[in-house]
Amino acid sequence: MFQTRITEMFGIRYPIVVGTMMHLAGAEMVAAASNAGALGVLASAMFPTKEDFRKEVRKVKDLTDKPFAVNLNLFPAMRQLDNREYLEVILEEEIRIVETSGHKAPEELAKDLKNQGLTLVHKCVGVRYALKAESIGADAVTVVGYENGGATGVLDVTTLCLIPRVVDALRVPVIGGGGVADGRGFLALLALGAQAVIIGTAALVAEECPIHPNLKRALLGATELDTMIVMRSIQNSHRVWTNETARKVAELDRRQAGLAEIVKAAGGDNAKQMYQEGDIQAGVMPCGQGVGLVKKIMPMKDIIERIISGADELRQKLAVI
Ligand SMILES: Cc1cc2nc3c(=O)[nH]c(=O)nc-3n(C[C@H](O)[C@H](O)[C@H](O)COP(=O)(O)O)c2cc1C
Repeated sequence: MFQTRITEMFGIRYPIVVGTMMHLAGAEMVAAASNAGALGVLASAMFPTKEDFRKEVRKVKDLTDKPFAVNLNLFPAMRQLDNREYLEVILEEEIRIVETSGHKAPEELAKDLKNQGLTLVHKCVGVRYALKAESIGADAVTVVGYENGGATGVLDVTTLCLIPRVVDALRVPVIGGGGVADGRGFLALLALGAQAVIIGTAALVAEECPIHPNLKRALLGATELDTMIVMRSIQNSHRVWTNETARKVAELDRRQAGLAEIVKAAGGDNAKQMYQEGDIQAGVMPCGQGVGLVKKIMPMKDIIERIISGADELRQKLAVI
């Protein structure tokens, strides 16, 4: 069911990617996604050293025999990342699929990845970036609309308008996302020409997602009005869940407080503490407008199955219109 160019390219059961998530997309989360028939994406940037990263890759392999991908983070970061080190592990551990995401297409990395025969997917937020990614050899391009959780870029184009524009512009298959949380969004994106969808926010309430139950409960109570854009003043726009720290960061943005102050409030250490200890005001958590559709904490497998069965039912209903 729902076989596409992407299920074929990645060797996965369903055309769903569970997006990479900083501090969260470790082995358990990734394996849960891949075991559910989707593609899990390990966040290499979570691991401070090459050997930590290697250990996590091996842990994923212990937990699943299904395909999974590794994300290489190209966003500006406080801790300078040497993606070449991660790349060495990727090659040594024979990972087949690499996703890159960030403000720029990975021109140099792409050459190496392609020379080694890896499948390269680049994630971005606009037609011109998608065309650039295709031109440097990306095998597929992921595009996410403005409603998505996490980095939004500066173009602010909604999923409904972005996906068909990118599908029309590219020859390689497109993975679309931003706001997909159930079978309706999934089928809608396939109707727009996407060959797969990417979900992030909907997976935050997976039982395997390592955020504190307090946060999961808060997300269940949130609606599509409970997200906001922060960090635009430092060219790092992110859509996040609205809480005290997010409001504080928005105020720092308004005051043009600058990188150091903003990163101190919105940075990963506060987020990690919030994820682990459950003080739901302590940090900033990426979150998309699709949070309004998230109603229940479930195993990842059920989240994926629910999307697929919902889409299938809807497809049959639509066929009789
Ligand atoms: C908590 C969280 C953390 C994320 N971290 C990253 C990240 O480190 N790198 C990245 O490329 N995308 C990141 N994303 C984006 C997701 O991979 C995915 O593209 C996005 O969530 C899809 O849109 P949706 O949230 O509307 O489903 C994150 C998303 C969330 C919700």
